Amino acid sequence: MPKIAVTRWIPDEAVEVLRSLGEVEVSRADRPLTPGELGEFVAGASAVVSMLHDRIDSTVVDAAGPALKVVANVAVGYDNMDVPALAERGVVVTNTPGVLTDSTADLTFALLLALTRRVGEGERLVRARRPWSFHLGFLLGSALQGKTLGIVGLGEIGRAVAGRAAAFGMRIVYSGRSRKPDFAGEFVPFEELLGRADFVSLHCPLTPETRHLIDAGALRAMKTGAYLVNTTRGPVVDETALADALEAGEIAGAALDVFEAEPDVEPRLLDREDVVLTPHLGSATVETRTAMAVLAARNVASVLTGAEPLTEVKP
Ligand code: DGY
Repeated sequence: MPKIAVTRWIPDEAVEVLRSLGEVEVSRADRPLTPGELGEFVAGASAVVSMLHDRIDSTVVDAAGPALKVVANVAVGYDNMDVPALAERGVVVTNTPGVLTDSTADLTFALLLALTRRVGEGERLVRARRPWSFHLGFLLGSALQGKTLGIVGLGEIGRAVAGRAAAFGMRIVYSGRSRKPDFAGEFVPFEELLGRADFVSLHCPLTPETRHLIDAGALRAMKTGAYLVNTTRGPVVDETALADALEAGEIAGAALDVFEAEPDVEPRLLDREDVVLTPHLGSATVETRTAMAVLAARNVASVLTGAEPLTEVKP
């Protein structure tokens, strides 16, 4: 029986798929495994089902041994994997595109609205039992209608965010590797997007090119009244520079679902009322997380039975 190592809890529906293929071992640790633990855990495995917090590189492949055929990451992002190193050793890498598009776009909008309608601030005020009464100038936010949303990275999630933005009556500009002729928004250079957008929403993958894409210079290039939303990967934003920019009043606010060194957060962001912070919840619905895990399990099934993987990441 091939061993299938699952590095963290996954829904039963996915475990069932895996059980039909081999002996399934799911990590019982309620935290990411340390690199040492990960190496021990995957020893002898033919397949590994990994999470975005697992660093999967040649060390892990070597620790697993020659039986390893596939690593199925339960995430669309795969910046935690050294894909070329795995490919060199003949190990197939898969991810979970498509199934989390809508839930991530929904959370992006939840954050956008929480920011502009000051939901977190209002909630904290009520919970703190602070006195308040309705008046016309109380906790005013800003409308989305008629504003410009700048989408950085028009992949599936960026497009899904654009669809929601259109329904809110927003104008859309986007930047990325290339113009998308089938998309109605305006394609602009990144620098122009920063200067025009009232809201900048990040949807590019984390790569060496996008690490700290939003740095001190980019933040300075944004409008003074603009907001930043990040639901992709934390290191796309330089958190220190963001805290500096907020302190200097260079932008109006930010919402982050992802952080440079999760679960740590730049401490200066924690006490700011103009910042909304959530703990990497982009895909966190029962339906989406189940679909992600089942897709990962089906990828394992395909590789272990000699079929084409459903969603392979090519080096
Ligand atoms: C992903 O799939 O990459 C997301 O970050 C998980 O929510």
